[in-house]
Amino acid sequence: MNIAELLSVANAIVARQKGVLAADESNPTIKKRFDSIQTESTEESRRRYREILFTAEGIERYIGGVILFDETLRQSTQEGIPFPTLLSSRGIIPGIKVDKGAKALALCAGDKVTEGLDGLRERLEAYRQLGAQFAKWRAVIDINATDIPSAFGIRANAHALARYAALCQEVGLVPIVEPEVLMDGAHDIERCEAVTAQALEAVFAELDAHHVLFEGMLLKPNMVISGKQCPRQAGVQAVAEATLRCLRRYVPAAVPGIVFLSGGQSAEDATDHLNAMNAMNAMGPQPWQFSFSYGRALQAPVLDAWQGQESNAAAAQKALLTRCHLNGLARDGQYSRAMEGH
Ligand code: 13P
Repeated sequence: MNIAELLSVANAIVARQKGVLAADESNPTIKKRFDSIQTESTEESRRRYREILFTAEGIERYIGGVILFDETLRQSTQEGIPFPTLLSSRGIIPGIKVDKGAKALALCAGDKVTEGLDGLRERLEAYRQLGAQFAKWRAVIDINATDIPSAFGIRANAHALARYAALCQEVGLVPIVEPEVLMDGAHDIERCEAVTAQALEAVFAELDAHHVLFEGMLLKPNMVISGKQCPRQAGVQAVAEATLRCLRRYVPAAVPGIVFLSGGQSAEDATDHLNAMNAMNAMGPQPWQFSFSYGRALQAPVLDAWQGQESNAAAAQKALLTRCHLNGLARDGQYSRAMEGH
């Protein structure tokens, strides 16, 4: 384990104003996104779309790292420059999603567990050779108002995350550890806080047991938020307070950065929430960088502008830069909703 390298990569990803662009949609997921704009998902359309994202001028000011999918890590620009090389040359660190998706956890109705540990050491070595410097593994924690997830479901996911994180650090990749408590459901924000707390507590206990170096990793959590179908939707300040309270209780100060997922929030809400957390000083200074690792909250406006049409490529890049800029401002608590649409 090269500690100096892990620390330097982890800190560079969350350098001032910067966050992560999650462009690691698996082929079934990107197909869903392309379906929404009536665009066929082919190897070439996926390549071209990612090329539009990665060549957008100016994003390097706000994007410290990009998470790629296996196929994308092996693709190139029209001129033949491999995407990892292109990103590195722009000062953006290439990363790779290494999990193989969440499946039903056997004999535990309602719980899921993420697969992909078998052969992971060899795959991580290969990804490093291809230029990746960090990795991501997402645990999916389904939630309802009462009995999902089970305590065992949380433990199984925490264990898998820790196995993954230790393997990453062994080969010199910074692990992004993502325990995602989903937004889907009618549960209230208090329930989300309770489940997020249990998940974070279990994850850090397992990371510690697996000898993971907290200084050389990043945490990618959900925000503490009301379920999408909950009739009582907590406001921006309440989300920021509940999320901070939960993180302060369960995340070691040694972790350099917390990069939130957007999880189905609108682009504006995701930026607003991040801003509120960075603006809030009532609890005193926070030990971590608060940043973003958004997929949908960065890309939804881009897909909207692109519509699968080459003639819209420049507009799509402009939409990406706008979102990156606003999230860059939110990193300093300098964003306001009034900036939208200008
Ligand atoms: P969203 O921001 O769309 O939730 O995606 C982030 C991600 O990488 C999920 O694993």
